[in-house]
Amino acid sequence: MKKSHRILGIVVVVAAAVLVTWGSVEFDWFPDLISPVDGKIDSVYKWLLIGSVPFFVIIVAAIAFMLIEFRATGEDDDRDGAPLHGSTLLEIIWTTIPTLIVIGLGIYAWMVLTDIEAKQPNELKIDVVGQQFAWSFAYPEEKIKTNELVVPVGRALQFNITSVDVVHSFFVPNARLKRDATPGIVKHIRFRPTKLGDYPIVCTELCGIGHATMRQTLHVVPKATYAKWLKAGGGTLAKIKDQAGGGKATGGGEADAAAAGKSVFNTNGCGGCHVLPDAGAAGKIGPTLVGIGKLKPAQIEEMIVDPDADVAKGYSKGVMPPNFGESISKEDLAALVAYLQQAGK
Ligand code: CUA
Repeated sequence: MKKSHRILGIVVVVAAAVLVTWGSVEFDWFPDLISPVDGKIDSVYKWLLIGSVPFFVIIVAAIAFMLIEFRATGEDDDRDGAPLHGSTLLEIIWTTIPTLIVIGLGIYAWMVLTDIEAKQPNELKIDVVGQQFAWSFAYPEEKIKTNELVVPVGRALQFNITSVDVVHSFFVPNARLKRDATPGIVKHIRFRPTKLGDYPIVCTELCGIGHATMRQTLHVVPKATYAKWLKAGGGTLAKIKDQAGGGKATGGGEADAAAAGKSVFNTNGCGGCHVLPDAGAAGKIGPTLVGIGKLKPAQIEEMIVDPDADVAKGYSKGVMPPNFGESISKEDLAALVAYLQQAGK
């Protein structure tokens, strides 16, 4: 290879490394930021890209160059390469540079981690429990248990995460934070949401057949809405919003109950296992709910709180979680039954 070609090749590879690295840093990898913490996490990620993407480009270019330059030129081309025995200078360079980069990134990531895990003043403590296939939440100081995660904007949050069955992973992509929910161990994450809105909560640990349906919502609401929700004893946020619409809390009756029930159905992961077209649910683990509306409310309620008492033909005992009677509040349960009566015709 001519010397001028070699120089041109090096220039092209360096330019490509700079361009690809720039592109990877500029690319919008993540959903909206909702707290100051996630900005720090995004910076770590950017520096990781800057520290690794150039090497990726250079190494791939070197492989491509060698594939072309040293390829066999015909059937009877069985030449060997020139015998080489190491290069101390090269080995020192390619050991020292990556070591320094890895140590630097490690120290930086450790500093950010210490920072985002630090205790904040006036934290709202929330116990998070993972269960096949839904999350449930408890606010110990407010004495509230709920299936909908509602938090006031601007308040520092401390999540205490655990599981009652298998390993799940609690992940709020908009806050960049995830932590395994492990039976018998309580782990923490902290952040302070500063943006109003509804954000997904997902499970990122394959935890069983309904794993993909283990999705709920984090509602970041104004302080006044949060206070109202607390006063109502938790439960579904839709209830509060209806009341805000003009005090029709007692008037709407059955229709309101059924609408709230749909939300209870969704937040408890029922659709992961059952078919119910009205809720867009197509789970195949348990029996279909089409036709359940013909049953009496008391019968439907028993099927939810005591699922093993009478198992449908072709299905086994012990598959449906037996503790919905405790994890769903009385009011939500009544709404869920009203909804199933209406939607399960
Ligand atoms: Cu729980 Cu995946």
